[in-house]
Amino acid sequence: MGNGRVKVGIIGSQFQADIQAASFQIMPHDAEVVAVASPTPGNAAELAKKFGIPRVYTDYREMLKERDIEMVTIAAPNSLHAQMTKDVAAAGKHIVCEKPLAMTIAEGEEMIAVAKRHGVLLMYGEELFFTPKYLKAKEMADAGAVGKIHLVKQSEKHFGPHSPWFWDVNRSGGGALMDLGCHGIAFCYWFLGRSPIKTVYCQMGTYVHGDKTKAEDESLCILEFANGAVGLIENSWARRGGM
Ligand SMILES: NC(=O)c1ccc[n+]([C@@H]2O[C@H](COP(=O)([O-])OP(=O)(O)OC[C@H]3O[C@@H](n4cnc5c(N)ncnc54)[C@H](O)[C@@H]3O)[C@@H](O)[C@H]2O)c1
Repeated sequence: MGNGRVKVGIIGSQFQADIQAASFQIMPHDAEVVAVASPTPGNAAELAKKFGIPRVYTDYREMLKERDIEMVTIAAPNSLHAQMTKDVAAAGKHIVCEKPLAMTIAEGEEMIAVAKRHGVLLMYGEELFFTPKYLKAKEMADAGAVGKIHLVKQSEKHFGPHSPWFWDVNRSGGGALMDLGCHGIAFCYWFLGRSPIKTVYCQMGTYVHGDKTKAEDESLCILEFANGAVGLIENSWARRGGM
């Protein structure tokens, strides 16, 4: 890829786009954000100003016409991930898609197939696999420091999302489990060496935010893995003060 610095375009300009832009900024030898696209007038320009991004678009499809862009990150609502992935792949650019990858398994499989067909990488933005404390814990577990692991717990809790689209199941695909539980499920699977999942039990309820969403605001999910271990994933949009 050119001079070794991957030229990146970001779709989206708010919460996660800001985190992505900040992350690219601390690795200037590896990547350079050259464009950002977001539909609300002024928003992409604001992110561009904050991070010194030279090109700004309101329509991401226009950004995809830029030949020098090699990779595009998708930091837009979940319901748009599949279509955006297809558009980015068709433009011949590699993709980093935010979690959750897709709204349904069928959508996710289609995204993978499209990326393969166009010969581009489709990378999933699960940051827990790169978080130093989790990497250290896995390294220790793999080295046998805590014996045979039979239970892995992961939790994410806060008082609900910052943006209105998360509450709308047609745009988010679900509630606390879809939004936060995707981290825990991916984490347990990774931590246990990708042992196949045998059974899944999930208890979900809407206890606090029923006026805002049809989705669950709390969930307890138990995964049974083929290697005999169990994952316990607890998620909430209903806990003031977070974890
Ligand atoms: N990895 C994490 O821990 C983490 C944290 C927060 C959000 N996310 C994920 O990141 C994604 C974005 O979430 P967010 O919190 O940044 O949401 P947000 O509401 O803060 O930002 C969404 C962005 O998408 C843009 N957008 C909407 N429609 C668009 C369109 N048609 N074309 C281009 N851009 C469009 C909006 O203008 C906005 O800039 C979601 O999939 C979310 O699940 C991941």
